[in-house]
Amino acid sequence: MHQDAVLNWGVPQLRDLPWRRTRDPWAVLVSEVMLQQTQVDRVIPKWFAFMAAFATPGECAAAPLGDVLELWLGLGYPRRARSLHLAAQHIVAAGEFPHTLDSLLALPGVGAYTARAVLAFAFESDAAVVDTNIARVFARVAGVALSAKQVQSAADEALAEGDAWAWNQCLMDLGALLCRPSNPRCDECPLESECAWRGEGADPAVGSAGVSGRQSRFEGSDRQGRGRLMKAVASGSVRAEDAADAMGWPGQSDRAARVAQSLVADGLLLLDAGRYRHP
Ligand code: ADE
Repeated sequence: MHQDAVLNWGVPQLRDLPWRRTRDPWAVLVSEVMLQQTQVDRVIPKWFAFMAAFATPGECAAAPLGDVLELWLGLGYPRRARSLHLAAQHIVAAGEFPHTLDSLLALPGVGAYTARAVLAFAFESDAAVVDTNIARVFARVAGVALSAKQVQSAADEALAEGDAWAWNQCLMDLGALLCRPSNPRCDECPLESECAWRGEGADPAVGSAGVSGRQSRFEGSDRQGRGRLMKAVASGSVRAEDAADAMGWPGQSDRAARVAQSLVADGLLLLDAGRYRHP
């Protein structure tokens, strides 16, 4: 891959994002967990609030899970908050921030992507990050849908060694700004000359490993009900028989009970003396 072309395109106009100004591994981990399923614009204020409340793994680990969940409201997918809280406790117990692939992968909620993102963005180690944007770029350059193994190998091979921080950030921006899911801007892309796809014909990124499809509809979903109940509980415990109303589903008590139970099973709520509350 033309590393210089990508770096020359990307470095001068890298988006100025707050987590790009730090190399603190905790701050980077928090940003990457938030960015897994939430868009950059919505993450920015939440990241600032979270870091103000929990500047270190120790501060997060010592807080009740309910406080962490409260800061997470609005980001969605609150299982991530619970994993981050567990990861903070793990880091405190380990006595140092993990800085190898295996020790990062051992943290709750940290998978192949997040572990490598911390290596590259906090420790500036030579790790090739594959998020949905980058997976899309590699599938399109290859011109065929790739397996998870193939996309990670392609990324490993393409990595600009010694420059992993900038390389991965540039590829992310390339995916987000040029090699977009629809209406790609191939004419401006530094990889156009080596891209097998170039925007013509079936998109090889569709169905390729690591490339997410659209998020399922939120309006009317169980996920919306989960979010509403989490929010209601953050301002005080909720009686079990009021859960359906809190979730915006008046009269649907069976559905409400089933979905509330899923939050209990995920360790995000407790049902205690007939009331839902934070753990
Ligand atoms: N998405 C995931 N990680 C990111 C990062 N470091 N910058 C921008 N978007 C991201």
